[in-house]
Amino acid sequence: MHDQVFSPMFFNSIDWTETDRFEKPITELADYLNDDRVFAIHLWTARNEAAPHEKSAAFIAQLISPLEGFPPFTTLADKFNTDKNRHTGNRHCYARIYDRLLSARRLSMRRLMEIGLCRGLAERNQTETPSVALWQSYFPFCQVIGVDLTDFSSLNNERFRSFVCDQSSVEDLRRVAATIEARSLDVIVDDGSHASYDEQLTLREFFPLLAEDGWYFIEDLDWQPPGEDLTKITPTKALLREIKECGTARSVDPLGVSALAGQFAEILFFDSHYELDRAQLLGGLVAIRKRANQSYPHDSVARIGKAS
Ligand SMILES: C[S@@+](CC[C@H](N)C(=O)[O-])C[C@H]1O[C@@H](n2cnc3c(N)ncnc32)[C@H](O)[C@@H]1O
Repeated sequence: MHDQVFSPMFFNSIDWTETDRFEKPITELADYLNDDRVFAIHLWTARNEAAPHEKSAAFIAQLISPLEGFPPFTTLADKFNTDKNRHTGNRHCYARIYDRLLSARRLSMRRLMEIGLCRGLAERNQTETPSVALWQSYFPFCQVIGVDLTDFSSLNNERFRSFVCDQSSVEDLRRVAATIEARSLDVIVDDGSHASYDEQLTLREFFPLLAEDGWYFIEDLDWQPPGEDLTKITPTKALLREIKECGTARSVDPLGVSALAGQFAEILFFDSHYELDRAQLLGGLVAIRKRANQSYPHDSVARIGKAS
């Protein structure tokens, strides 16, 4: 018989049986709530006042006052020192897009990878990872996998795993990819060097790690570090626009990003508020959703025979 017939269900009944489970901090409930056998939570207690003395920490309190316990991503982002928000640094305000595309996955998000963790070497602020803290606050059951030139391993814990990796190096990217199960990441965010070559190499090497229906974001498409040879690489924004419109690249594609096009369910462009205000540039952020229900005979197809 199917497992689910005998599945446990959190039944938070009117006589308060099992309320003790819900009165734990939200992070301690991750194993229960993400257990495949748990398919529902019954919340009779939504009609009652729950453990007011633990109001800020208890999961049940957050469910009872959803607006208080679960602020939208845009509001939450304003509390962190990241320019994904409305007032820090370049104020890109990508938070509104993450809100729009990811809010439905708030409690089911299991694994998110971000490439680029600090606000920049120039700010000499490399001991903090504000966007990691933001992701962890917004997705209470999510483990964040961080990739950066800087070693953040001293911050590793159950919900954060970091890799020192130069995203311009195919060897580094493959070393990281080899430790992560294929199709196990719900979201990948590239907010690293912003060089088109690096973005495309990383997309090629890490896209197989993304789960079906997962989202792959690349931020700050309008900013390129000096030194990129644009006769050898098409800017990522232009390349992905071509793939969106024609199904394949029309310009030079030395890293073979077009080979992934069949796995792209949709490619969406959104604006950076900063680039829009500064130079009327549209489409500073790209979001690529991975096609679902596909067989992947060659997860590494894009690696074969391509420049490295
Ligand atoms: C824009 S900041 C990241 C901001 C952060 N995600 C946030 O939202 O607050 C860029 C980060 O990318 C990292 N970085 C720059 N070049 C890199 C490369 N080639 N490989 C990996 N990380 C890189 C820098 O060390 C820096 O931490």
